Amino acid sequence: MRAYMRRTCLLIAIAFGFGTSSALAADADHGADLAKRWCASCHVVANGQATASADVPSFVSVARRPDFSPERLAFFLLDPHPKMPNFPLSRTEAGDIAAYIGSLR
Ligand code: HEC
Repeated sequence: MRAYMRRTCLLIAIAFGFGTSSALAADADHGADLAKRWCASCHVVANGQATASADVPSFVSVARRPDFSPERLAFFLLDPHPKMPNFPLSRTEAGDIAAYIGSLR
C-alpha cells in the first residue's frame, strides 16, 4: 500500500512537470498561425494586416499594455470574453497564441 501511494505521487509529480515545461515551451509561430486563422476576422493580429473590425483592440496594442502577461492572456483565452465567439482552444493553443501576442511587444 505504501509503495503504491508513493508511485502515485511520483506519477502526479511527473504529470505536473510535463505540464509546466510545455507551458514554458509555448510555440509563438504556431500561435501566429492560430491567430491568423481564428482571430484575424475581428482583430489586427499582425503588422501589415489592413482590415479588421473597428473598436476591437489590435494584438500589438494588447501586447503593449503595461499589465500584459502571457500567463494572464492564456487564461483569458481559455475563458473567452462574452463578446467573442467561443473558441475550442486547448491549453497549449491558448499558450501559443499568448506567446505570439507577447512577441509583438
Ligand atoms: C467575432 C470577433 C472576434 C474574434 C473572432 C476574436 N475576438 Fe478578441 N475581441 C473581440 C472584441 C469585440 C473585443 C473587445 C471586447 C471589449 O473590449 O469589450 C475583443 C477583445 C480581445 C482581447 C482584449 C481583452 C481585453 O482585456 O480588453 C484579447 C486579448 C482578444 N480579444 C483576443 C482574441 C484572440 C486571441 C482571438 C482568436 C483566438 C480573438 N480575440 C478572436 C472580438 C473578437
